[in-house]
Amino acid sequence: MKAVFMGLGYIGLPTAAAAAGKGITVTGVDVSSKVVDTINQGKIHIVEPDLDRLVKAVVEKGSLKAALQPEEADAFFIVVPTPFKQNHRADISYVESATRMVIPYLQEGNLFVIESTSPVLTTEKMTDIIFKERPELKNKIYIAYCPERVLPGNVLYELEHNDRVIGGINPESSDKAAAFYGQFVQGTLHKTNARTAEMCKLTENASRDAQIAFANELSMICDKSDINVWDLIELANKHPRVKILQPGCGVGGHCIAVDPWFIVSDFPEQAQIIKRARETNDYKADWCANRVLDACRQFSHDNDKEPVIACMGLAFKPDIDDLRESPAKYITSRIISEANAEVLVVEPNIKSHKTFNLVPYQEAYDKADIVVWLVKHKEFIHMAIDNSKTELDFCGIRK
Ligand SMILES: NC(=O)c1ccc[n+]([C@@H]2O[C@H](COP(=O)([O-])OP(=O)(O)OC[C@H]3O[C@@H](n4cnc5c(N)ncnc54)[C@H](O)[C@@H]3O)[C@@H](O)[C@H]2O)c1
Repeated sequence: MKAVFMGLGYIGLPTAAAAAGKGITVTGVDVSSKVVDTINQGKIHIVEPDLDRLVKAVVEKGSLKAALQPEEADAFFIVVPTPFKQNHRADISYVESATRMVIPYLQEGNLFVIESTSPVLTTEKMTDIIFKERPELKNKIYIAYCPERVLPGNVLYELEHNDRVIGGINPESSDKAAAFYGQFVQGTLHKTNARTAEMCKLTENASRDAQIAFANELSMICDKSDINVWDLIELANKHPRVKILQPGCGVGGHCIAVDPWFIVSDFPEQAQIIKRARETNDYKADWCANRVLDACRQFSHDNDKEPVIACMGLAFKPDIDDLRESPAKYITSRIISEANAEVLVVEPNIKSHKTFNLVPYQEAYDKADIVVWLVKHKEFIHMAIDNSKTELDFCGIRK
């Protein structure tokens, strides 16, 4: 069995390496020659536990090689980025370009799978493109959509153990794709159609987004009514059928903060709650920034001098170095540009940053007049409280 993976990023590389580790001969294709060269040296260009050892082993064994162009194979996988454009519409141009790159290599009996998070109908659109270019392959190849739902930091375990949803353009395609994944996935393989599989991935992230929006909305209501939102949620969750998530300073990352827009932009009339959830979570970041600016003005008024503000955390969630779509980064940027203050920026998971001059967390805390807790990093949790400072806790550090 020979497979080609198009895109060797956070998802494509671990999946390609996991398949190679189970005896499949894999060619990983990327448009970046730096990525290709790094992998062919048995090294990796992303941060993911244990991936370096696996990639080194499969490259040395000859079961994984990287290349700039695809080649003939039994199965092809599209694992390229799907960002959104200015208007929140999904940009599927990478999926289309990777699909067009493999079209010349497709042969009768091949399997073609899209893994990239994609708007509904993307698989059908790519199917049309394939058959327009290669009409002789109609009904002779298998095409499916199979989304990825792994947690960065635990990717190799979850790749093997998570259930997968596999949506073929017909039942034969679902069967063929399930047979492929069955070689390295121990989780249950749930077969459905392509549209349902596409919508399933978007639904998972929209559901998380809506649940966090509920908690964020509560946090703003509680602030107005002088109720501790953390205590409130803990008490409400004592109800056997209530499970409210924790509020934060917004929602970030390249999945939950992005994918629900793919539903909203395609179904603007119907997707009311999904849209409001996205807006609520984005608004929460502005609300937090405005609270800090208010505290800054109050401090200057009371003390007749500008405060030192410590912004604690930049990442989009605790204990990672990923700043993509991070509300903490957005809030910090707003404070830097709008506050009359000295702003100290802290992110213990990053050594240096091209925009922010990072300060060690204890030093920033000690120097600050106003401390803004943005991310619940483990380093911050047990820091001693200095009651002379104003603390704004948006992530439950002091709950
Ligand atoms: N990272 C995650 O946690 C995660 C989880 C679930 C789903 N996804 C989805 O998986 C997809 C891939 O995400 P990622 O995080 O791996 O992205 P990434 O940016 O880490 O990697 C994508 C790679 O594709 C390469 N590429 C771009 N165009 C190409 C082409 N035409 N041919 C070959 N390679 C090409 C890029 O150079 C890059 O190395 C996205 O749709 C994403 O939404 C990601």
